[in-house]
Amino acid sequence: MSKTVLVAGASRGIGLEFAVQYAAEGWHVIAGCRAPEQARRWMPATVDLQKLDLTDANSIAALGWHLDDDPLDLLIACAGVFGPDTGSFAAPGDDAFNSVMHTNVLGPMRLIQAFGTNVARAQGVIAVLSSRMGSIGETSGSDALAYRCSKAAANMVVKAAANEFGPQGATVISLHPGWVRTEMGGPNAQVGVSESVEGLRRVIANLSTDDNGSFLDYTGRNLSW
Ligand SMILES: NC(=O)c1ccc[n+]([C@@H]2O[C@H](COP(=O)([O-])OP(=O)(O)OC[C@H]3O[C@@H](n4cnc5c(N)ncnc54)[C@H](OP(=O)(O)O)[C@@H]3O)[C@@H](O)[C@H]2O)c1
Repeated sequence: MSKTVLVAGASRGIGLEFAVQYAAEGWHVIAGCRAPEQARRWMPATVDLQKLDLTDANSIAALGWHLDDDPLDLLIACAGVFGPDTGSFAAPGDDAFNSVMHTNVLGPMRLIQAFGTNVARAQGVIAVLSSRMGSIGETSGSDALAYRCSKAAANMVVKAAANEFGPQGATVISLHPGWVRTEMGGPNAQVGVSESVEGLRRVIANLSTDDNGSFLDYTGRNLSW
């Protein structure tokens, strides 16, 4: 029987590439997008496109009702926004801060609350696309404060979810995809999107339950929190 993955934030970039690669491997791919009717044009025909806005609790709940108790082998929280790139230490405005935190922190929190049990039922994996920019131990810059803080907070969401769903059989991890050439990463980024996602898929495929609560990059390297 084919495995099922729910990719949250699959309209472009890393999320789209996850959907494309897992569909090519014969997985049942559920792709959550804010505008599924647009994404249909470039999404593989086998992909089950569903409306999903991570900043809208009703939208997450609606997908939850749709999936009901169906087991999920993999849940990938991919949706993210970068917010203002201030270049140096500068607090963002209220709206920018709220938007980044809402999408990057409250989004995965609600997503995991809604689907954690579905993943645990399949003894599956919950992966949150975090970033090395959210690693307190590896931080060398002072720019993009809202983004950095949001990914550090997302890492806490992962740790707490690992405590909750790990004992139920799920493996919950934070992932750093590298600096990737997407709309967010920009054209000068070091890693192509297919290379990043191939690496991330390899990392996910090689996980054991001992990896519950880990922070890994696309090459499998452990990052400090
Ligand atoms: N690229 C990098 O170098 C890099 C490095 C480290 C971590 N990451 C992380 O990796 C993840 C994917 O990044 P990316 O480079 O693929 O970014 P991207 O190209 O900017 O794509 C962002 C994706 O998130 C979706 N999204 C944003 N807000 C959403 C919401 N409220 N509900 C549902 N979907 C939403 C977007 O959908 P729409 O089309 O509807 O806007 C789009 O599909 C992000 O979490 C990012 O922080 C990226």
